[in-house]
Amino acid sequence: MTTPLIGVSKSLLKIKELINHVANTCLNVLITGETGVGKEVVAQNLYEESPRTEHNFVKINCAALPETLLESELYGYEKGAFTGAHKKRPGKFQSAHKGVLFLDEIGDMPLSLQSKMLHVLQSGEFSPLGSDQDFKTDVWVIAATNHDLEKRIKQKQFREDLFYRLNIIKIDIPPLRERTEDIPLLVEYYFKLYKSEYPNNPGSKPDEDTMVRLCNYPWPGNVRQLQNCIKKQMVINSWDKVFDEMPAEDSHAIVPDISAHDSVKKGETRNLHPDFANDRISLISEFVDLSTSSEKLLQEISLKKIKKKASDRVEKEVITFVLEKVGWNRSRAAKILKVSYKTLLYKMSEFDINPPSK
Ligand SMILES: Nc1ncnc2c1ncn2[C@@H]1O[C@H](COP(=O)(O)OP(=O)(O)OP(=O)(O)O)[C@@H](O)[C@H]1O
Ligand SMILES: [Mg+2]
Repeated sequence: MTTPLIGVSKSLLKIKELINHVANTCLNVLITGETGVGKEVVAQNLYEESPRTEHNFVKINCAALPETLLESELYGYEKGAFTGAHKKRPGKFQSAHKGVLFLDEIGDMPLSLQSKMLHVLQSGEFSPLGSDQDFKTDVWVIAATNHDLEKRIKQKQFREDLFYRLNIIKIDIPPLRERTEDIPLLVEYYFKLYKSEYPNNPGSKPDEDTMVRLCNYPWPGNVRQLQNCIKKQMVINSWDKVFDEMPAEDSHAIVPDISAHDSVKKGETRNLHPDFANDRISLISEFVDLSTSSEKLLQEISLKKIKKKASDRVEKEVITFVLEKVGWNRSRAAKILKVSYKTLLYKMSEFDINPPSK
């Protein structure tokens, strides 16, 4: 069953409106946003609102499969196409015919497969591995990623032409910390949802102070983390314990982008050396890989290197903040930051700071 898109924030209402507008078209959609923000939920809602519901919603995770397997899963194969291909098998493009093909984690699709994907999207035709026959395909392609694809294009990891093909309609889902109005509604929704799952553990809904605390928390793992947090509350019935086990509350306030560390990004608790098992970790983990053994870690820690990384990090955030505040007017930003216009341009290019694409 499709998850309803819960939320009343301006950004979520806009997304709902966009879903209604786009669902009747067959324009390729690219959904972006941090992990756990609801990219898959949006894709499912697009499908549900579309006239394609009599056909399939087919999902493929481009990050989860090795290259050759991903190719055969996408396009299918003929008997004998490769060792182990004992019988003909249809691919996702066939299963999604007249329905929706959801290309999840598209940013991780290997470059070698990106050109074939572009060709299929352009021509509407594909051929299974080992076949010389072309098949027509009518699928609505919805793709999602938590990568910054424009950055990946610059790094030559993603084809620019494929990006433009996919990015006809862009739906960017902001992180939960930027739409805290959605939190009370989501909390209510999950308490209701899990009531039947934990009939003997109803938990306790947050009082006013707890709700404020929930709304102030940065939610690095976004809605998924909030969802798990409610489940946990219902089982252990202690908000204090739930908060104790969450990654540091002030982590986002100190360093705005804490996504650099994968496990922080997923909102998971980690097995760290006890020296770091406190709220210092979220800051330190920005600059040091804490998942290595403590011996290796101590050999590799260098204050000089960390200083440079930390100051670059803060500079980048401050410059971006000011540019956003002045509507990307660079000469105004340079004046505010008290640097020359040239220095600002240099720093923008060094730190890869770009205005949002329209
Ligand atoms: N607005 C929402 N309303 C209800 N549930 C939501 C909403 N957003 C996210 N969720 C729930 O949060 C969880 C994560 O959502 P989803 O899998 O769509 O995120 P995602 O952006 O695809 O994450 P990832 O990048 O890690 O794949 C799911 O259980 C989903 O049901
Ligand atoms: Mg997803």
